[in-house]
Amino acid sequence: METVVSGIRSTGNLHLGNYYGAIQNFVKMQNEYNCYFFIADLHSLTTHPTPANLHANVKQVLVEYLAAGIDPEKATIYVQSDVPEVTELYLYLNMNAYMGELERATSFKDKVRANPDNVNAGLLTYPVLMAADIIIHKATKVPVGKDQEQHLEMARTFGNRFNRLYNNEYFPEPYAFSYGTNLVKIPGLDGAGKMGKSEGEGNAIFLGDTPEAIRKKVMRAKTDSGPTEENQTKPQEIQNLFDLMKVVSSPDAIEHFDNLYNTMAIRYGDLKKQLAEDMIIATAPIRDRINDIAGDADYLRKVANLGADKARESASKTIREVREIIGFRKF
Ligand code: TRP
Repeated sequence: METVVSGIRSTGNLHLGNYYGAIQNFVKMQNEYNCYFFIADLHSLTTHPTPANLHANVKQVLVEYLAAGIDPEKATIYVQSDVPEVTELYLYLNMNAYMGELERATSFKDKVRANPDNVNAGLLTYPVLMAADIIIHKATKVPVGKDQEQHLEMARTFGNRFNRLYNNEYFPEPYAFSYGTNLVKIPGLDGAGKMGKSEGEGNAIFLGDTPEAIRKKVMRAKTDSGPTEENQTKPQEIQNLFDLMKVVSSPDAIEHFDNLYNTMAIRYGDLKKQLAEDMIIATAPIRDRINDIAGDADYLRKVANLGADKARESASKTIREVREIIGFRKF
């Protein structure tokens, strides 16, 4: 059975984009592959969270993974920092990762531009840590979005370079993976691009948002002043609302508002009300489970310990073999 690895950085609550773009697929994959889903808390250190925030953020993602349907009996769910073998592999891979290629990574250049005062070495070597995350389990399938393609290419480069250096076909090549049909687009509410947590307050609907919070955010979503011609092409911000409806609303409701738009009879307030109520219904089961699971410290401890054990079993086997390949010998 092929191995799947994916991680989400613990830097805030999960939103509808994470759910429909990623986690829903994880829930499907756990039945078909040997899956490792982890919480990337080491990656979150690049922005220096306080100790209290660090733990709260890890807990939040763990709770939301479970609430969204990832099953700890089927998939291995673990916290990255519970598996120190990952950081050991990261060190080995760093010896063959070069300044030039790391500096050329798009994500690094973006971060440097956004935060010129915090250009730390962890940021530079982020793709090396990500490569270690993946190849420590010899994964070949990595469900991630388009923005991670370059990191995956680097993971292949680092794995292949190790193989060549030691003349050993040890690490397989990991590739981005998605169910072809499932490339749903989850736009944000600000009228621009995709839903994201760094795009500003009100752009993202979080899985744990209360119904009131959802209504408030949706009612404030950006719209225009309405169609001026029949069957007019929808501007981006209106198309975004229809795209969101495609995910949570019934085909009848979508057709209804589409007809109103095409006949210039649409009232955006009504559309937003419908969208908000459908989002509330779609997320209700997850919201309920988030509240239950967040209060169950015993269960969370059990899940985290089980995941750490399973992940370490796989990771320590790799590290044993890698040490052997590199040439470390016991006296
Ligand atoms: N870089 C990924 C992101 O920002 C998170 C991540 C870290 C990851 N390590 C990974 C994803 C390994 C897949 C596999 O979304």
